[in-house]
Amino acid sequence: MNSPQDNDSEIVTQERRARSNLPRIESAKLSAVEGSGYRYYPTGTSTKIKQARKLLEQVASFDSNVLITGESGTGKEWAARYLHDLADRADQPFVPVNCGAIPADLLESELFGHEKGAFTGAYATRIGRFEAAEGGTIFLDEIGDMSLPMQVKLLRVLQERVFERIGSNHSTPCNVRVVAATHRDLEQAITTKEFREDLFYRLNVFPIELPPLRERADDLPLLAESILNDRRNKGLDRITLTLGAQRVLKQYKWPGNIRELANLLERLCVLHPGGNVDICDLPSRYTAGVPLRSSDTEVLLEKRQAGAIPEEFELPGESTSLKDYLEKVEVSLIRRALEDAEGVVADAARRLQIGRTTLSEKIKRYKIPPSSAEALSSRSH
Ligand SMILES: Nc1ncnc2c1ncn2[C@@H]1O[C@H](COP(=O)(O)OP(=O)(O)OP(=O)(O)O)[C@@H](O)[C@H]1O
Ligand SMILES: [Mg+2]
Repeated sequence: MNSPQDNDSEIVTQERRARSNLPRIESAKLSAVEGSGYRYYPTGTSTKIKQARKLLEQVASFDSNVLITGESGTGKEWAARYLHDLADRADQPFVPVNCGAIPADLLESELFGHEKGAFTGAYATRIGRFEAAEGGTIFLDEIGDMSLPMQVKLLRVLQERVFERIGSNHSTPCNVRVVAATHRDLEQAITTKEFREDLFYRLNVFPIELPPLRERADDLPLLAESILNDRRNKGLDRITLTLGAQRVLKQYKWPGNIRELANLLERLCVLHPGGNVDICDLPSRYTAGVPLRSSDTEVLLEKRQAGAIPEEFELPGESTSLKDYLEKVEVSLIRRALEDAEGVVADAARRLQIGRTTLSEKIKRYKIPPSSAEALSSRSH
């Protein structure tokens, strides 16, 4: 979407099409409660994402420039789109430009356009991204990678709100809201003279920092839900992460943040279309180094040696009847399912593929202690 070959009108049409499919709710305040009315809602209930979301909602209706910072894959473009959808400009285009991906000598033409014959190869007049974004929002991604000469040109647009196509001496006024993003530390880049201080202050009118996923691990299930819904719209069969798998993923450090989570989920959707994904289905890098519960290890071993007879199903000894032995197996499996389901009886019953009432009766009959069932259950409600 960000390559220089992109056709501007195509971007605009795509954006309009995406928006027209969405139910919109009237006010930004409502969205904070509901969330679901916006396609690009920055999902989560952690304090850090709530703070970021609140800032986006507060600044949306003003035309201030916004600088979104955060590690790679933390959802900067997603947040910029949310901001745009909240603003009065929502019905106008949102035009993303990846300043890092476009070669420096092409970026000027990409942003401001050119006149026919302005340089070798300029066979026709072409409008730039600023013109394509007229009335709407331009999203300057990876702004920290912009060359110094381009920074000067961008500064002028921000100060004077006009630009010229290359090869033209006619200034075009522009009414475009600028949202920039970077994973780089721009203040550090200023000290090394790679980024202009005056441009930084122009862009940084309203800074918003997105937290890394490892600092909001509790948001992982909601985020996974949102990603799976998004991917389902793109034709991928959704999967269900078991509570055990969610618990393991919450402990992973996620260097690639939401992008890495989205990639993992896409892969799992392809491998297990419509299925349940358990700990043993996760690639080993996600389970390596994570302390597993004894029950997890058992499940892992069992599944990985699929077909082998697990040790615990040995022939009962002389002192044990088959009935007692089978009860023991049943109790062990119920405990394990309850532990995996964090004590939620309904979830454990689903895992065991029996009715909830049947499981409750068995828990009572076998006097399964509160540590495995009720205590966990009350914790998770
Ligand atoms: N709340 C969300 N729900 C669903 N998917 C999301 C959400 N936030 C981000 N994503 C997905 O995560 C991926 C990364 O998001 P985005 O491109 O916005 O991050 P970024 O910070 O711009 O990343 P980069 O630094 O790599 O450019 C995208 O595939 C996006 O669709
Ligand atoms: Mg990005």
